[in-house]
Amino acid sequence: MERLPRNRTYLMCPPQHFTVEYAINPWMDTTAAVDADLAVRQWDKLRTTLTGLGHVVHVLDPVPGLPDMVYSANGAFSVDGTVYGARFRYPQRANEAVEHRTFYQRGDDWRFVAPEHVNEGEGDFAYLPNAYGGIVLAGYGFRTDPAAHAEAQEVLGRPVISLKLVDPAFYHLDTALAALDDRHVTYYPGAFSPASQRILAQLFPDAVLADRADAEAFGLNLVSDGRHVILNTEAVAMGHKVREAGYLPVHVELSELKRGGGSVKCAVAELRA
Ligand code: ARG
Repeated sequence: MERLPRNRTYLMCPPQHFTVEYAINPWMDTTAAVDADLAVRQWDKLRTTLTGLGHVVHVLDPVPGLPDMVYSANGAFSVDGTVYGARFRYPQRANEAVEHRTFYQRGDDWRFVAPEHVNEGEGDFAYLPNAYGGIVLAGYGFRTDPAAHAEAQEVLGRPVISLKLVDPAFYHLDTALAALDDRHVTYYPGAFSPASQRILAQLFPDAVLADRADAEAFGLNLVSDGRHVILNTEAVAMGHKVREAGYLPVHVELSELKRGGGSVKCAVAELRA
């Protein structure tokens, strides 16, 4: 089957001020040195890879004192021009939400809705426009409050499927599951509760299944345009799996961002106008 790409618009934020000075997920080690210059070079290669594929990338100005701002996926979640704002679990990241809000409210392109409940944007929300008429998959268990799932459903007018994450190493949905195109997903079952595994198997019988090693290599933290699947270089086996399924893996080096507990997807928010 021929996998066709669709042009996308993304939002990224350069890791100029990237550090690991607090630890809010098991990947973060505050005693290990981070090379911010290398992080910026790797980030820039990711950005030019996306623009090289014909996508539009908007860039958010990084703010000193917000070292995790490079993980722009966490700043909001948009569907058909409506933006459901983020509200971060940890105070260290709280002000990132303000920067994202300002970005969306700059023009008249977006209907921005401020959230009442804790949610970390695309970190815990994914949208599949062609699955069941358009559904949202939502993770909870570590960051996003399940109350935010109901709130997102009300704001976005799409069914939201709540999925429970059970492994602290895979604390955001986007570390355990990814949309490969408008209707297909890939995921690591072991990151989800048995009930959520059953729900995923029911909704996506043709999913590409990943294993623990794929997830640990951040192979599920990918960005796909429907044909090209951008993965970090460590995720070799995951690259084979998506190729097997008819997609074209494109690997980029993103070793520095893994020190903060993130990879490709965390650094790329999709803007769905
Ligand atoms: N250090 C960040 C945090 O723990 C990493 C966020 C990763 N982002 C993502 N979309 N999974 O919040």
